[in-house]
Amino acid sequence: MTYSPKTFNLPTLKGISEKQIKVHLALYEGYVKHTNLVMATIAAYGQTDDEGGKYAIAELRRRFAFEFDGMRMHEYYFEQFESGSTSLTINSALAEAASAKYGNSENFIKHIREVAGTRGIGWVVVYKDTVANTIHTTFVGDHEIGQLAGLPILLALDLWEHAYMVDYVPAEKKNYIDAFFANLNWLVVEKRFDATI
Ligand SMILES: [Fe+2]
Repeated sequence: MTYSPKTFNLPTLKGISEKQIKVHLALYEGYVKHTNLVMATIAAYGQTDDEGGKYAIAELRRRFAFEFDGMRMHEYYFEQFESGSTSLTINSALAEAASAKYGNSENFIKHIREVAGTRGIGWVVVYKDTVANTIHTTFVGDHEIGQLAGLPILLALDLWEHAYMVDYVPAEKKNYIDAFFANLNWLVVEKRFDATI
């Protein structure tokens, strides 16, 4: 099987230009292409007993999560802008879980922003821990380093510089984070949470 790039029905965004989105979507399509390429190359090397081929397969397996998570994380990201921005619904199951952990919804969002200040490229990811019935907010390096095993992803905030450098310089990362929240459709995030119940 091969993966195909998804299309996203994006409205005009506030503080994130059409050019920025176009560049970012092209990068996303690169991850889809390379996920397929890694799978196809492993399959091709799989036909040989050659020592070098076996070594190449091992390295490709190490690389697979980078390409696969690069693909999937961008799908979580762009979906969050579909249908326009909405506020976090008061009394939603997500808001209640966020309040249980962080005190209230405002503190929850404040905490995401705080984690977004982490140095380096990667993602802020909010997960639902279905075993402990709580949520976790963490920083994932690259696309795959620090992902929490088996936990459904609720929110994904891309903090690679490629996500904002068409519109902002690195020192303006905070403006990009403001734009992310200004365009975020919380209903998408709430729906992900509700799917775990
Ligand atoms: Fe990205």
